[in-house]
Amino acid sequence: MSEGFVSGSRGSGRVAVVTGAARGIGRRTALTLAERGFTVCINDLDVPEGALDGVGEHVVALPGDVSNEDDVKRMASSVAERFGRVDALVNNAGISAIVAAEDTPTDLWRRTLDINLTGPFLMCREFGKMMLEQNSGSIVNVSSVAGLLGVSDRVAYNASKHGLIGLTRTLAGEWGGRGVRVNAVCPGWVKTEMDEEDQAGGGYTDADITGRTPMNRFARPEDIANAVAFLADPEQSAYINGHTLSVDGGWFGDGSWESLRRRKQTGE
Ligand SMILES: NC(=O)c1ccc[n+]([C@@H]2O[C@H](COP(=O)([O-])OP(=O)(O)OC[C@H]3O[C@@H](n4cnc5c(N)ncnc54)[C@H](O)[C@@H]3O)[C@@H](O)[C@H]2O)c1
Repeated sequence: MSEGFVSGSRGSGRVAVVTGAARGIGRRTALTLAERGFTVCINDLDVPEGALDGVGEHVVALPGDVSNEDDVKRMASSVAERFGRVDALVNNAGISAIVAAEDTPTDLWRRTLDINLTGPFLMCREFGKMMLEQNSGSIVNVSSVAGLLGVSDRVAYNASKHGLIGLTRTLAGEWGGRGVRVNAVCPGWVKTEMDEEDQAGGGYTDADITGRTPMNRFARPEDIANAVAFLADPEQSAYINGHTLSVDGGWFGDGSWESLRRRKQTGE
């Protein structure tokens, strides 16, 4: 779909940009922000018509590759021209890469870092300039439990997600005094197409994940979207800056050994 307004005319005046929003966590986040009154610019490599069904408000398709500097500059100019402002940026676009470290090809390493870390940096830099000019804004970077802990067979992915937390903390310090907050959410495992594809590749099973999660279930996309919306909204999170918010059913906080965790999950 080409760039442009696609539906509706309502909007509170608050503008959000969500990357990787054609499906999964990004799509749910875009819907949630639209429900809460944001005009939402929906980025993805391509934004098919169906991806916008149900938004029903003032939304804009903003196709582009977040790892491509020219695309990012074009997207920022487009939002500046149309709205003259941006209030929330959600860096959600990302790719998974499950392969043993010793077998990880250099081009896969670079591609993963490009999309998962350089992309958010470029988006922060270009949209952050607009936020700094208006002296307000909230950036939410979608990292992962894999940004907080090592998980085998994900060396490039985990390095990118750890890096994203470093980017978050640094920008929070650099921009916090100029009205721009920068935070990260760290989802546990979420039921999306990414999960389906990773499981189809033999990466893990549902039972692997539920067994390791104190709450004994996967996250739903709305669990992540609600946390992102909270951080995006200054009325709810005005003094939260540089934070990494785990949305993982207790995964990161739980150091229990397996049999103990299982006993607590079943209440025995
Ligand atoms: N699903 C999980 O279990 C899980 C867990 C922790 C973190 N995350 C993170 O959450 C984010 C969303 O995950 P998801 O499960 O919804 O993934 P997904 O694969 O279902 O969706 C990702 C979207 O990003 C888009 N995208 C990929 N490269 C892009 C690029 N260069 N430019 C613009 N868009 C691009 C894809 O086209 C896709 O629509 C990712 O950053 C992922 O690493 C996911």
